[in-house]
Amino acid sequence: MKNTLIAPSILAADFANLQRDIEMINASEADWFHIDIMDGVFVPNISFGMPVLDAINKHAKKTIDVHLMIVDPDRYITTFKKLGADVLTVHYEACTHLHRTLQAIKAEGMKAGVALNPHTNVDLLEDVIQDIELVCIMSVNPGFGGQSFIENTYAKVEKLKALINRKNASTLIEIDGGVTNKNAKQLADAGADVLVAGSYVFGAQDPIATITDLKQITK
Ligand code: DX5
Ligand code: ZN
Repeated sequence: MKNTLIAPSILAADFANLQRDIEMINASEADWFHIDIMDGVFVPNISFGMPVLDAINKHAKKTIDVHLMIVDPDRYITTFKKLGADVLTVHYEACTHLHRTLQAIKAEGMKAGVALNPHTNVDLLEDVIQDIELVCIMSVNPGFGGQSFIENTYAKVEKLKALINRKNASTLIEIDGGVTNKNAKQLADAGADVLVAGSYVFGAQDPIATITDLKQITK
């Protein structure tokens, strides 16, 4: 039996009732808080920034998984550590010196993650996979919640899992975008360890039951 981690994405929360939604996640079977930081340059949207993450961190009682959709993320590694990030994920496409960036994240005591856009081949990570603690496979084009899941993701997960095994790495595979009860089981079976879910959780009548359901079906 597998323990697939569920990471609700706060991007889909009600920002006027943020504390309420954070307490809901605290009380649920969710494992992580997924926090999307967008700069309006790397992606065509701006989400929220430091003061909001600071507020989230004051109430969140679970692992804080920060997904940076920003250019030149090296400038903010120390800042995100101070704001409570436990996992810090940068985009492959935004890093010229990815290996150096990963070392800088780990030097701050955070887990180092790399996110791949839908067009980015997992084989590009071959020479650095042992230094990556989490690979986030984007199953939508980053920038917005509520988009439809890209079906090619299953094949990418399988290919990445094979690479991780071949290299004897212990990297976690995270899937981000369009996750629902329709694709969660197949993703977990293909090798996904962490499932991010935004609109599917927060748009549900009963988000707590929806999280429990995602945990159950991915066992
Ligand atoms: C998209 C973000 C996702 C987003 C997922 O750029 O990285 O984390 O919040 O939202 P859903 O689950 O609604 O696709
Ligand atoms: Zn994300």
